[in-house]
Amino acid sequence: MLKREGCFLIIMLAAILQLKSQPVQSKGLKDYYKNYFPVGVAVSAADLKDPGEVALILSQFNSLTPENAMKMGPIHPEENRYNWKDADSIVAFAQAHGLKVRGHNLCWHEQAPKWMFRDSLGNPVSKEVLLKRLKDHITTVVNRYKGKIYAWDVVNEAIDDDSTKFLRNSLWYQICGDDFIAKAFEYAHEADPGAILFYNDYNTERPEKRGRVYRLLKQLLDAGVPINGVGIQAHWSVYEPGQKELVETIKKFASLGLKVQVTELDISIYPWEKNQRMLRPGESDAYAADLEKKQIEKFAEVFKTFRQFREVITGVTFWNISDRNTWLDNYPVHGRKNYPLLFDQKFQPKKVYWKVVDF
Ligand code: GLA
Repeated sequence: MLKREGCFLIIMLAAILQLKSQPVQSKGLKDYYKNYFPVGVAVSAADLKDPGEVALILSQFNSLTPENAMKMGPIHPEENRYNWKDADSIVAFAQAHGLKVRGHNLCWHEQAPKWMFRDSLGNPVSKEVLLKRLKDHITTVVNRYKGKIYAWDVVNEAIDDDSTKFLRNSLWYQICGDDFIAKAFEYAHEADPGAILFYNDYNTERPEKRGRVYRLLKQLLDAGVPINGVGIQAHWSVYEPGQKELVETIKKFASLGLKVQVTELDISIYPWEKNQRMLRPGESDAYAADLEKKQIEKFAEVFKTFRQFREVITGVTFWNISDRNTWLDNYPVHGRKNYPLLFDQKFQPKKVYWKVVDF
């Protein structure tokens, strides 16, 4: 009898040890971070038809951002035609599963339809016409998802890449001057006064860019523009940002009374490059052990900072679901694979995942 009980105990112990060494996915990122902030992910409508992606989304995340479906070009391809299909399906999926949705985005210089800026003869439209079109666009899109989208990236990337300049010389700017920014926020607020409205940009941790983003945010707030938050895109790499730069950025933006969200997080294993090029012969694109180690350290560091600023940070969203598909594959280097997320190409949590949830 005793012998049998002993055997049973040993088997149970072995089972427990086994469980400890092979973590079981009973909890997801959203559960580990439930007392901190929602954890989101950027998706396409196609992702939501793939059982593997769906299982991962539902087990890990509690917020969705449409990766492309709500951008002006895809959703409003012609003046009198909206293409609601993909955006509707993402919002319906979120509603069916109780997920939040961040709308992305209402005004950007990229993925904007050509018709927006031209008249029927192909000439540039006037400021009045462009602002009227912007208003129609924002009112229609925000209205359609009123009450279903809790936050909007209203204006994306309006600051110039050149650190000696302020606003980007986009068609929006060329035709409207800086007015289009304030107007975009006003139109969005009018359409859904309950939505939280964000300005969203990249490289915000770099001191020169941070200063210019701060200047824009302050101008908007001083002018009484209805802006509630700032999106730190967080397309980072294993080499940047440094912890100090990130902390200073969050503090500086928060000092304006704005909420901060991390809106497009991924950590590339390569250094940032601005220009596109081909992968060079002999150049490796393997997920090498030393890069994996650097990535683990960087993810651990940034999440520690996010947790420290839980009063200010009201959302953290990953840009894509797993290393199977990321916009950083082939960009900016054609033919190069990247591994910037927490799940591998088979949807399994990477080592870095366990670091991010270990606190
Ligand atoms: C920017 C945009 C995103 C996305 C990424 C690249 O950060 O805000 O919508 O297009 O570039 O995928």
